[in-house]
Amino acid sequence: MFDRKTYQERREFLKRKISSGLLLFMGNRESPRNYKDNTYRYRQDSTFLYYFGWSKPNLLAVIDLDEDQSVLYGDDFTIDDIVWMGAQPAVKSLGERVGVDKTGSLAELKNLLTKAITQGRQIHFLPPYRPENIIFLHQQLNIPLQEIPQRVSPTFTKAVVQQRSFKSNEEIAELEKAVNISRSMHVAAMKTAKVGMKEYELLGICEGIAIAGGGDMAYPGILTVNGQTLHNHYHGNTFRPGQLILGDYGAETSMNYCGDITRTIPVDKTFTTKQKEIYSIVLDALERCTAAMKPDVKFLDLHLLAAKIKVQGLQELGLMHGDVDEAVAQGAYAMFFPCGLGHQIGLDVHDMEDLGEQIVGYRPGLERSRQFGLKSLRMAKELKEGHVMTVEPGIYFIPELIDLWRSENKFTEFIDYGKLESYRNFGGIRIEDNVLVTNSGTRILGERIPKTIEEVETLRQRVA
Ligand code: GLY
Ligand code: MN
Repeated sequence: MFDRKTYQERREFLKRKISSGLLLFMGNRESPRNYKDNTYRYRQDSTFLYYFGWSKPNLLAVIDLDEDQSVLYGDDFTIDDIVWMGAQPAVKSLGERVGVDKTGSLAELKNLLTKAITQGRQIHFLPPYRPENIIFLHQQLNIPLQEIPQRVSPTFTKAVVQQRSFKSNEEIAELEKAVNISRSMHVAAMKTAKVGMKEYELLGICEGIAIAGGGDMAYPGILTVNGQTLHNHYHGNTFRPGQLILGDYGAETSMNYCGDITRTIPVDKTFTTKQKEIYSIVLDALERCTAAMKPDVKFLDLHLLAAKIKVQGLQELGLMHGDVDEAVAQGAYAMFFPCGLGHQIGLDVHDMEDLGEQIVGYRPGLERSRQFGLKSLRMAKELKEGHVMTVEPGIYFIPELIDLWRSENKFTEFIDYGKLESYRNFGGIRIEDNVLVTNSGTRILGERIPKTIEEVETLRQRVA
């Protein structure tokens, strides 16, 4: 955990941004897998972690702007809880550790909320995403379930996004730790994957490294020979010669900061020529987009730069033709790149996505595109010093999309469907780093993770 001052200063920022009422922070509870006492691995809400630090279930907190105080609410363990889970620090000492002014029980919180409603005080809350927190708001604030989204506080939400988007030095150090654990996971995969192994066997090794790092996986791992499927969570395939393995997985630290790294490696010890050709285009896009990142550059423009580099590379291979700028402007490139170039990363792998992608990645005057591909870009606005981004270009060959667009004669002026046929079983290649925006450019977080064809093949030689 950070020093108590960090949490106090973060809360002070909110007090300066919002003038009156109560700011309600809902921590997460345990979430049952198949019955109440058999739970998913616990994950605290990231905004709660940011302002109140504790990764423990059944805590809520309030900043009372009118009384100028922060209060942590929770119930101390009963003897039954202690028998089941062991002794826990009292809520009072949890509160002291993060420098709140007061602590109270959950019953006291409910009284405060009831009284605040009768007094007509404003209760600000953030967009809830867990059903139990939605029910809590419904019951405690007397808001019909379907009205909850409209009653979310835009002022509170914007202030949190404004603050959490800029990573402090101590946060960057945590993110760097997360990337380094993620690096160990990817290096282990590069040294271990071999013909005959199952995807889940390799993923199990990687997940073990994340847990051994003191935290957990930052998101369900993607490790697949079908890398053309962006979020493939099936892991039952057996590696065969000639295939590619796309691994998109990362660790989160014990303080819940996330790494999100992708590498694509051959099942064999070397890439085929065809694989190298596509890999080189993706790597070129990653390197040139990262080099072009600096404050005030729109991430949207970097997405379009990645698209252009891919169109040019695919033209050299004869898979595309025609005017490059038009192929980008009209969205023909999305046949091979139907997703965004990246997203903010922090306490969430897609940082603050619960608070609303529009607020996090866009701004007034910069609206989200409806074009296939570009509509999936999560961050479009100007980069600023202190932003941490994933940069994750890829080239994908999705047989169903090829068949659909071909049947519609879509973008025949840009796509060579005849040539594309010989790539329909290619799969996909994505390469992803986590990148800090500095005052003059960028810094790729963590120690270097093998990335060039030579680096990957060198490690692949070490497979038994
Ligand atoms: N790493 C998964 C994603 O960015 O969606
Ligand atoms: Mn990502």
